Amino acid sequence: MKPILDLRSDTLTRPSPQMREVMARAVVGDSFYDEDPTVRELEQRVAELFGHEAALFVPSGTMSNQIALQLHCAPGDAVFCAADNHILRAETGALAALAGLQPVVPELIDGFKPSINSLDELYVAPGSFVAPATKLLALENTHLFSGGRIHDLGHLQQLSSWCRTKGLAIHLDGARLWHAHVESGTPLSVYGGLFDTLSVCFSKGLGAPVGSCLIASQQHIHRAKLLRKRLGGTMRQAGILAAGALWALENHIPELKQDHRKASFLASWLKALLPQAEVANPETNIVLLKFQESAIGLLEELKQKYGLQLSALNPKTLRAVCHRDVSLAQLENLGQ
Ligand SMILES: Cc1ncc(COP(=O)(O)O)c(C=O)c1O
Repeated sequence: MKPILDLRSDTLTRPSPQMREVMARAVVGDSFYDEDPTVRELEQRVAELFGHEAALFVPSGTMSNQIALQLHCAPGDAVFCAADNHILRAETGALAALAGLQPVVPELIDGFKPSINSLDELYVAPGSFVAPATKLLALENTHLFSGGRIHDLGHLQQLSSWCRTKGLAIHLDGARLWHAHVESGTPLSVYGGLFDTLSVCFSKGLGAPVGSCLIASQQHIHRAKLLRKRLGGTMRQAGILAAGALWALENHIPELKQDHRKASFLASWLKALLPQAEVANPETNIVLLKFQESAIGLLEELKQKYGLQLSALNPKTLRAVCHRDVSLAQLENLGQ
C-alpha cells in the first residue's frame, strides 16, 4: 500500500523538531497564579497582534468559543449563528447545554455570510416578555464547513457596525483566521478591531500540538479566567504548550500560503480524477467534494489506490484539508 497522505484535518499536524526543542526549553511557572512567563508572553503577543488589551490561553478552540458565548450572554438569551458554524454544528451542543442559549439562524449570502436584512428582521431587543433577547452575533472566518471560505472585509465591516448600532456583541471564531489573513492580506489588527472577542487556534494549520487564545478587553479576560476555571480549563505549567504556539506564530504563518497552493493543486487533480464530483476552487486550505450519491465507498478506494486519506462531512460530501505535514511534491506525485 502507498504511504498515507492524511488530509482528514489540519489538526493532524505534529510539532516539528524545532518546535519540540523550544517547548522543551520553555521557562514555566504556575499559570493559575499568572506566573508562567511563557504563557504571559504568548498572551501579550496575541493581544498585541490583534490590537486588543488582553488574551487568555485556553486548551481548545471549543473552550475559547464557549467562554465567549458565556461572556456576552446569559442563559435564555439568543445568539445569531449560521447553522453550520462550528459553534453550533460541532461543539456537542455546548451552546445550549453549557451556556443555555437559543441559536437564531439568519439567512445567508453565498452560503455562509449572514445577511444584514435577515439580522434586522430577526433581531429582538432586550425587554420582550415573549422572545429571547438577541445578545450576540457569532461569525467564523475562515468558514470550515463551507470549505475554508473567507469573509470579505467590506461585509465584516458592515456586520460589525450593524452590531454596534444595535448594542449587540460580536464574536469571531477565528480558528483559521490566519489563513484569511495571509490570503486576503488583511492585517490581524484590522480583523481585531471589528470584534469584541476573537478566538484563534494554534493547533490546526499552525502546527502547534495544543491551544487557543481568546482575545478581548481586560474586563472580559478577567471574567474569562473565572469561566475557564469553571470549565476545568485552567492549566499549570502550560508554558511548554505556549512555547509551541509562540514558535508557530513567529515561523509558520507565512507558510500557510503553501497550504492554499496545495489545496488548489489537489482540487484540480481530484476534479480530473472524479468528474462526477462538484469540486469548488478552494479559497484557502480546504477542498470540498460534493456528490449526487453517497461517496463513502470512495474514501477507501482513494486510500488504497493513492494513499490519500480524506474524511466525510456527510455521505455526499468529502473533505481534504491541506496542511504543513503533507508537501506539494507529495501531492504532485499522487498519480505516480
Ligand atoms: C472553525 C473551528 N472552530 C473551533 C474549533 C474547535 O477547536 P478545538 O478542536 O481545539 O476544540 C474547530 C476545530 O476543528 C474549528 O474548525
